[in-house]
Amino acid sequence: MTDLPQTLAACADAVLNTAEGREKTALSKRCAEAWFAARAAGTPMPIGQGNPPLNPARPAQPELLDPRDMPRRRTGSLAGRIALLHAVAHIELNAVDLHWDIIARFTGTKMPMGFYDDWVKSAAEESKHYNLVCDVLESLGSHYGALPAHASMWRAAADTKDDFLGRLAVVPMVLEARGLDVTPGMIEIFRKAGVESAVAALETIYAEEVSHVAYGSKWFHFLCGRADIDPKEAFHDLVRRYFHGALKPPFNEEKRAEAGIPPDFYWPLADEHPANAARLTR
Ligand SMILES: [Fe+2]
Ligand SMILES: [Fe+2]
Repeated sequence: MTDLPQTLAACADAVLNTAEGREKTALSKRCAEAWFAARAAGTPMPIGQGNPPLNPARPAQPELLDPRDMPRRRTGSLAGRIALLHAVAHIELNAVDLHWDIIARFTGTKMPMGFYDDWVKSAAEESKHYNLVCDVLESLGSHYGALPAHASMWRAAADTKDDFLGRLAVVPMVLEARGLDVTPGMIEIFRKAGVESAVAALETIYAEEVSHVAYGSKWFHFLCGRADIDPKEAFHDLVRRYFHGALKPPFNEEKRAEAGIPPDFYWPLADEHPANAARLTR
């Protein structure tokens, strides 16, 4: 096994520059273990300075397609359920990179050690999520890379590469919060189909994602407080600027509240979006 880089930012760069999914997640877990071992020993790893790639390295497969060109899937069939799991695996692999990218990209802003603890812990959990979903895909005779996947998944990261507060608003507080809204429905699909391994994987993901959203909200509020700006107004401005889709109800208001995102953060953005007008006035 090769030696790990000496700083947390260099560890993050190394994960981002590893292409193959299982290799990326194995390195991610080793980096997280080294970080927490050093923290426990009272000799924390230096943060260092990141030099993350604009786009993380990715495996040759899956083929990445524009979302409009993605085949539509019906989850009533095994093929449809495999496609759904494949999409989840793709999201989890992106999530691994997103968590290391925020560590590497914003080293110019001094943050408390707790910030790095939260993001390293989440990165290790995303790595576990990817592996869990890949295990289920493989048990169903498929694998990550067997189907096409969304090309636009990294867009939110690219758009916010120079804006730390924008990154926190859009990635954990919009995209990962959306995961809290939709995961219970996915769990139901696999429960009905009797795929217990998928139910177990998704339940782990659902439980752990609440804290990822909470970390986003916590550090978003921290940075707003440091800059003496109103968090709700800042959130609305940043989501309008960087997020190109609609915030779609129904929202999981209970889990969002648990994660520290109150309704007046997301409802005004959903209400004002033209794509929701018909839905909301019906
Ligand atoms: Fe995840
Ligand atoms: Fe997450």
